Parts: sequence; structure tokens; C-alpha cells
Amino acid sequence: MTYTEFLPSEYAKTVSEGKVTYRAPSNIALVKYWGKKEDQIPANPSISFTLDACATTTALTYSKLAEKGSGFSFELLFEGKDKPDFRPKIEAFFNRIESYLPFLKDYHLKIETSNSFPHSSGIASSASGMAALALCLMHIEKQLDPSINEEFFDQKASFLARLGSGSACRSIEGDLVQWGYHKGIPASSDLFAVKYPFPVHEVFHKYHDTILLVDKGQKQVSSTIGHNLMHGHPFAEQRFSQAHENITKLKEVFATGNLKGFIEVVESEALTLHAMMMTSMPYFILMKPNTLKIIEKIWQFRSTSKTHLCFTLDAGANVHVLYPQEEKEKVHQFIKDELVAYCENGQYICDRIGFGAKLLLP
Ligand code: PMV
Repeated sequence: MTYTEFLPSEYAKTVSEGKVTYRAPSNIALVKYWGKKEDQIPANPSISFTLDACATTTALTYSKLAEKGSGFSFELLFEGKDKPDFRPKIEAFFNRIESYLPFLKDYHLKIETSNSFPHSSGIASSASGMAALALCLMHIEKQLDPSINEEFFDQKASFLARLGSGSACRSIEGDLVQWGYHKGIPASSDLFAVKYPFPVHEVFHKYHDTILLVDKGQKQVSSTIGHNLMHGHPFAEQRFSQAHENITKLKEVFATGNLKGFIEVVESEALTLHAMMMTSMPYFILMKPNTLKIIEKIWQFRSTSKTHLCFTLDAGANVHVLYPQEEKEKVHQFIKDELVAYCENGQYICDRIGFGAKLLLP
């Protein structure tokens, strides 16, 4: 597929107004996307678990304007309140996707959005938020062109979400999702994410992710800046090929349920992501002392309890603790006894693998 396939021709229908609501989940990368080319093309492929509890719900009310506007006509409510500081991001997103959704300036759009997780939790809402909005916009396009099938609908939603925030393209459908061309994964593409197409051992069907909120503050370095620092980074090329190799390794891991192999890839990916940050110019550190304390505790507990919990990190200080369903009781107890003390205000979120976005209305 090339990007031209997402450029629509004349629409068959006209639609004057309507309302749609989608709930889209967050996701946590196992192999990390860090570094991008122009137009949000990833420098390497990534693979993620879709989450379940952490999600954004977006309602989009659309009404046709008497005349096409010169700019975008929209209002934005976050948790019921006007949110002027979110406007520039939405405006930039609309500008990027307008050629793929040429009806955008024909409508007034009222966007009402809310997150299931606390706003100041340090959990990025851009993935779930952009995915939910992209799905709502695809719903309008489907009213204008009813011939759009489910497969194309999801692909284009992922394609559009990617233009809002790269990792958002992995929040549309599937429990295990792959984005970025990889020679071993048929249909993989830099333009949109796909459901992982190979058999997955049952141990991974019910994986848990407990997110330890180590630092709920605003990130000091945005992921946009971080991605850009991979240009001219001394270790960039090795890192990008390592991501390809790690996806190949995970193929065996997913097929066989090899948890030792899973832990090795996932923890190494998390530390490599942060190593890239620490070795870029300018360099920066997003982990906090408590992030390291938690990692140490996880390693100790894993070796003494013979369980298979492991950690991953996103671009921040919070720690995602991943573990299989069978070890849930033991790991919960350990988290309560030993890890909660390192969380800001003792806060953490119990999440698990989910299955993608849902249409809530109509
Ligand atoms: O989607 P962005 O541009 O916020 O980048 C996300 C990058 C990481 O979360 C660090 C890794 C990933 O693959 O999700």
C-alpha cells in the first residue's frame, strides 16, 4: 500500500450532521519506536500490547457548514471543559490529514474527549486520544462513502492516527500490534499498524500490566524532541537494526511462550530506549531514582520467587510491570508490599491486555 491509496476520490453521498463516539485504548510498546523520518515514518518497526483500562473516549458531533470554511471549524472539550491549550495539536493534526479527508473544512466539529486515567498521571494520552479521534473522522468518511470496508476503515484510521502521534496507529485493533516494515511480517507497513499475524501462545492472551506512577509530572523532554535527536545519533543505525532483530526474536517467543526470551527482549528494549536518550546530544534522563529502585526490586523478586514478571518503560519515569495471568496473585502482593512505596502518592493502575478500539455510538 502507498499513501495515495488513502486519498479519496469524489464522495458518493452527502451528510448534513451526526454524532459518533469511540473508545480507543492506550498501548505499551515491547519493541520501541524511537526515531522517525519525515511524515511520521518510523525509523524502525515496533510491536505493542494493547491496553484495556487506560483509554480515551471521544464523541464527535459534526454539522455541515453553509459554505466550506477557509480554516477548520472546531470546538474542543476535555472532560467537559474548554481546553484551548489542546487546540494547536488538533489544528496541526487536521492540517496533516486534510488531503486524506477533504471534507474536514465542510463541517463544524465538536470534539468531546475524556480519559479513563488521571490527566496528570504521566501516562501519555496522545496515543489513545489520536486513535479515538481518527476513528470518529473515519466514521464520517464512511457515511460519505458507504463502500468502505472494515479492513480499509481500520487501516486508514491507523494511517491517520499515525499522523497525529506515531504510536497512536497501534491503538486501533488487535491485542498484539505491529507497526513498521519488517521483512518477516507480511503486510507490515510504515504507514499503518497491523494485527500481529502469527500464532501467539496462550500465556500471552491474558497478560497483565500494572503501571506504577513514579512521577506524575509533565515530561521535561517531549517525545517529538526525543525522536528528532535520533538524527545523527552515534548509535542510531545499530539501534534500528537491533529493533528488527528483536522483532524476529519475539516471533519465536510468541509462538512458543518462551517467557525467559520475552523478558530478555522487553527489558533490553526498555533500557535501550533510555540509553538512546542518555547518549543523544543534548542528552537527558527521564528515569527517576525510584524507577531504578523498582527495577532492582523486580530483579530480586524474580530470582527468588521464580516468577516471570518483567518491566518496561515508555518515555518517562513510570514503570510498566508485565506478568502472566497465572502469577497475578503473587505479583499483586509483591507490588503492594514492595513497590507501592516508590510510587508518587502510592498510585498505580492495574491494566491488562485489551483488544482494540470500540464504537460506542451510534
Ligand atoms: O507516539 P510518540 O511520538 O509519542 O512516541 C512514543 C515513543 C515511545 O512511547 C517511547 C515508544 C513507543 O513505541 O511507544
